[in-house]
Amino acid sequence: MEDRPNALGRTRVKQALSGAVQPGAVLVRGWVRTVRRTKNLSFIALNDGSCLDNLQIVVDSEAPELSDLSRLGTGACIEVHGKLTASPAAGQPWELQARQIRVLGGADADYPLQKKRHGFEYLRTIAHLRLRSNTFGAVFRVRSALSFAVHRFFQERGFLYVHTPIITANDCEGAGEMFRVTTLTPLDPPRNSGAVDWSRDFFGERTGLTVSGQLQGEAFACAFSDIYTFGPTFRAENSNTSRHAAEFWMIEPEMAFADLAADCRLAGDFLQYLCRYALEHCAEDLKFFDTHIETGLLEKLAALAEAEFQQMTYTEAVKELQGCGRAFEFSPAWGQDLQSEHERFLTEEVVKGPLFVTDYPKDIKAFYMRLNDDGKTVAAMDCLVPRVGEIIGGSQREERLDVLEGRMAEVGIAPESLSWFLDLRRWGSCPHAGFGLGFERFLMYVTGMTNIRDVIPFPRTPGNAKF
Ligand code: 4AD
Ligand code: MG
Repeated sequence: MEDRPNALGRTRVKQALSGAVQPGAVLVRGWVRTVRRTKNLSFIALNDGSCLDNLQIVVDSEAPELSDLSRLGTGACIEVHGKLTASPAAGQPWELQARQIRVLGGADADYPLQKKRHGFEYLRTIAHLRLRSNTFGAVFRVRSALSFAVHRFFQERGFLYVHTPIITANDCEGAGEMFRVTTLTPLDPPRNSGAVDWSRDFFGERTGLTVSGQLQGEAFACAFSDIYTFGPTFRAENSNTSRHAAEFWMIEPEMAFADLAADCRLAGDFLQYLCRYALEHCAEDLKFFDTHIETGLLEKLAALAEAEFQQMTYTEAVKELQGCGRAFEFSPAWGQDLQSEHERFLTEEVVKGPLFVTDYPKDIKAFYMRLNDDGKTVAAMDCLVPRVGEIIGGSQREERLDVLEGRMAEVGIAPESLSWFLDLRRWGSCPHAGFGLGFERFLMYVTGMTNIRDVIPFPRTPGNAKF
């Protein structure tokens, strides 16, 4: 956040409270959190989103120019000219003695964010107003700071930032979770012997919203060596869980000349960097989460910033699960995907911290992952963390043309549909690897918030695209 007054001569609440502003005349603007009236004085708690704390405005109710505060209630937007002074009362170092108050936008008693605490579920129904609460103020300040940190991490390391397409004809993950993009009319589409004729659609073929920028990222890595994407990602998974959103943001680095071990190292460095950045730049907001959302959060983040990441293969993980004596709802078996109860057990109880699980069976992973020498597993990795489960999925990519063609045939992907992707293996192929970090999943981990709907501005989930 800027330390200077903004262009309009307004002092931010954060600056006013920092001690860096000369005591004296200042102008502030913001939204009223609470008003407390005593006989001669009123105290307004003012917040402008620049920080968690409010600025206390002291109003002499008997001064005639200040007496018209009738429209002043919780939620109102006001402008205050006054004198910044060291506060005589405990609770805040600075306060503003009001000389003139102008109500920019009043708020009546129906304003939904009155003083009492509201449940997160209710707050989702007023996603446009929850932004003015302490919790969501903190969430979105941390989200902004960490977005910047993502770019800083990769730019410092010489990675090229690439904007991969949002509309695409490729289903990267092959899980059939793409939202369709079409201009055909649903009631009467052009047909060819009964079936919809997609060749007459806008793009001349079936297209959808991207589920990952990886495939195009690979083309860039095979030209710029180290690249990353950071963009919106869409999945029509009809799973109404606290960890899935239909629209989320993913960060996908891709490195030429890298194997799975290098991929895990980058992922570990990246997570630690982001934790350190948050501890350093979002201290006040993280303290709030530690107090109100997840006890021990600060300690957890400080530990992760220093930790050695644990690693085990999928085969070891299954053995661990089978031998632990725990009755799972789904009994673990080699060849089956790990359920979230399995993932959480491994990270929360076996290693008690972040964990990379590597080398999954090929049949439960995407076609592009590099086949290991055993012919049964692929060079994949998932990063699991306590409370959230999987936050990263990545792999070394199959760079051998014949092996990749074989894998595509096995899972039924027509080579024509990805001929450009195969070209990357035809000319100047190289070993390469990358991963995807779900930004919201990571924010859940950093803030302690337990529902993905509460770390994204306006969540899109099954049955919900309001706002
Ligand atoms: O494991 P996933 O599906 O991997 C990929 O998409 C690869 N193409 C990434 C790569 O190698 N470049 O997704 C990566 C991460 C997951 O670990 C999870 O954190 C997040 O994206 N994610 C979701 N987050 C929120 N809502 C959803 N529906 C998500 N699906 C995946
Ligand atoms: Mg995954």
